[in-house]
Amino acid sequence: MELTKQDLYRPGMEGIPACYSSIGFIDGKQGILQYRGFSIEELCQNSTFEEVAYILIYGELPSSDQLADFSAELVKAREIPEPLTRIITQLPKEGHPMTVLQSMTAALALYSEGTSFSDSKEQAQAMIDIIAKVPSMIALFDRYRKGLDEVKPDSNLGHAENFLYMLSGDRPSPTATRIMDVCFILHAEHTLNASTFSARVTTSTQNDPFTAISAAVGTLYGPLHGGANEKVLHMLESIGSKEKVRGFVENKIESKEKIMGIGHRVYKTKDPRASILQNLAEKLFDEVDSSQLLDTAHELEKIALEKFSAKGLYPNVDFYSGIVYNALGISTDIFTPIFAAARTAGWVAHWKEQTDNNRLYRPTQIYEGSPARSYVSIDKR
Ligand code: ACO
Repeated sequence: MELTKQDLYRPGMEGIPACYSSIGFIDGKQGILQYRGFSIEELCQNSTFEEVAYILIYGELPSSDQLADFSAELVKAREIPEPLTRIITQLPKEGHPMTVLQSMTAALALYSEGTSFSDSKEQAQAMIDIIAKVPSMIALFDRYRKGLDEVKPDSNLGHAENFLYMLSGDRPSPTATRIMDVCFILHAEHTLNASTFSARVTTSTQNDPFTAISAAVGTLYGPLHGGANEKVLHMLESIGSKEKVRGFVENKIESKEKIMGIGHRVYKTKDPRASILQNLAEKLFDEVDSSQLLDTAHELEKIALEKFSAKGLYPNVDFYSGIVYNALGISTDIFTPIFAAARTAGWVAHWKEQTDNNRLYRPTQIYEGSPARSYVSIDKR
């Protein structure tokens, strides 16, 4: 029997493959996440964001020379083109940093040396530019809107440490640096989520990586995707204390509202990234005294498990990331841009994979509008 469009249709394309990919792997039932075959736990334990970006793009562990060259290229590419610095420092200060980032990643194309992006050197430079410049643009906008002077990148610092330095103007502690690095690793890739799919669709029209990544940033911004980390922190702050959690959850269930940071399209167990972040948050709170939020989060996780685990709803990565960034002193609306900064590595790897083996995305639809009818001139309506 031939399958109809109705047989094939799945709302939100749930479970429908849209490409072959060798970049990331998820087993949502067992809570497994791997980049190019390497488990997220092993990468967080042993690697750095720079190395993870290399692995995602090129598929293999780099030799020490390859890693040193790649890291040096990233350091060299951190400066934002001067005209973009001027634009960023004239944008409305109250604008959301994700809107700034979406516009500025697209604008990077105007200052890129490449034109065709079919040459492997041009491709490599464009990918480096995106990964290196996105954190600089986030830090510049954050400082400008707070009335602070720009902090230029420091070539002696690694990717995560330099980002924290450019945000605050102070050298971060080794713990803060390591935590930021792990957060970058954890968010670097996650198969065909909405933003990566968006990047691949844009790439499939033979687009440059800046345009593809700009589309992905826009898609990530929504509260059902990257925007959830910001919402989780607001939610925990509004709950106020551990004692108020049960009432909060019961109200949400009654009003059929979703609880931010809970649930995932793919994971039907606890998101492995949430477990890693939870451990980090606990370590961080041994150093920083601000454990009220963590206590509220623990209680919320406990009650959410009690109420929702039968439905396959567990904490996702965003449940703990906001608490960690908050403890690092980062402004709440910078949380999603940090997610984007990390995900640039995965997005450019998908841009390259799609470019190397492209076919234009052009799905179909099930038409349910009016049958054919005649136009009526305006005086007869
Ligand atoms: N709180 C309460 N109930 C929920 C939640 C939640 N957070 N998430 C899903 N449900 C319920 C739904 O109400 C629905 O129940 P029903 O079958 O009784 O109607 C069922 O679980 C299925 O929900 P869907 O929204 O259809 O699941 P979907 O796979 O489309 O959504 C999503 C996944 C968007 C992540 C959803 O769980 C959600 O909105 N979570 C909150 C936002 C969030 O944390 N987003 C971050 C995702 S991770 C990331 O992007 C990095």
